[in-house]
Amino acid sequence: MDKIIEISHLNKKFGDFTAIDDLSFSLESGKIYGIIGPNGAGKSTTMSLLMGLIYPTMGTGMVKGFPLGSQEAKQIMGYSPEFPSFYSDMNCLEYLVYMGTLSGLTYDEAIDRTKELIKEFDLEAHLFKKVNKFSTGMKKKVGLIQAMIHDPEILLLDEPTANLDPTSRMEIIDTLKKLVTQKKMTVLISSHVLTELEMIIDHVIMINKGRIVLDQPLSEVQEVFNKEILQVSCSDNQQMMDYLTKQGYECSLLKEKIRIKAADKQACKQSIVEFVYQNHFTLNLLQEEAVTLENLYKQLVEGEQDETHI
Ligand SMILES: Nc1ncnc2c1ncn2[C@@H]1O[C@H](COP(=O)(O)OP(=O)(O)OP(=O)(O)O)[C@@H](O)[C@H]1O
Ligand SMILES: [Mg+2]
Repeated sequence: MDKIIEISHLNKKFGDFTAIDDLSFSLESGKIYGIIGPNGAGKSTTMSLLMGLIYPTMGTGMVKGFPLGSQEAKQIMGYSPEFPSFYSDMNCLEYLVYMGTLSGLTYDEAIDRTKELIKEFDLEAHLFKKVNKFSTGMKKKVGLIQAMIHDPEILLLDEPTANLDPTSRMEIIDTLKKLVTQKKMTVLISSHVLTELEMIIDHVIMINKGRIVLDQPLSEVQEVFNKEILQVSCSDNQQMMDYLTKQGYECSLLKEKIRIKAADKQACKQSIVEFVYQNHFTLNLLQEEAVTLENLYKQLVEGEQDETHI
């Protein structure tokens, strides 16, 4: 696979403070990457470095063979900042057409593209309103349109759904997914809403304190981090707990569900089913616990090992 972005040992200091510490990763063409990490982890700084808005203290990076921050690199990238701010007095249409022409489109192309994207992001009713009077969520949408207006090959989206209501968030995620898949864009997207990110990304990059703690395709995450946890719930969870503990399983009761650590999941499931049958209990739930981004994040960033829950 083509690597469209490659960064190697990037380091960014602000004074004495190291915000990005020896960061290396590569992005393959056409894939959607999620960058996650706690507040202050360095997600926005990473995006600014990739966009060439700030320069690394050390390290190098290439975008499709061009150095980070070069004009050639910038031309094939689109960026939607975490906090879009519009100082201009232009209305939405004027602003986006202007941004389109700045990105190299002709006036007519910019108009067509603006109209197309305005429709996708459901802002048609606001085309002639002043952008600086828009609500935070509407500004976010304008930021996204401005990032995509010139059909960039690479899209950097810093918390694209922050400050949006749940319906708008889902709409944005669906629209983004549709547009980036259609155009086969390479996307790096940061978000704190991990369930939402999970729906769109192919690959996860997790950072903490400026360092990478995980860089893996989402499809491999299940295999690598599956901690052999089963979840069960029946009509008498306390008796089930006692039974499983006697059988030698480590388990804990969590919100009406028993979590069981079982190296041999099949054998454990069989004993559960037999126990339920013998005691005429009702089995409400019996499933393998999926590895979600949320619990991976807890394990890797918050240092909460699975074992502590068992
Ligand atoms: N221009 C700057 N000057 C000084 N420190 C900065 C600057 N920009 C970022 N930092 C610091 O670098 C660290 C990383 O910040 P960054 O904004 O990249 O975090 P983030 O992962 O995007 O966090 P959030 O989830 O809150 O958006 C923080 O400690 C921040 O205070
Ligand atoms: Mg940020």
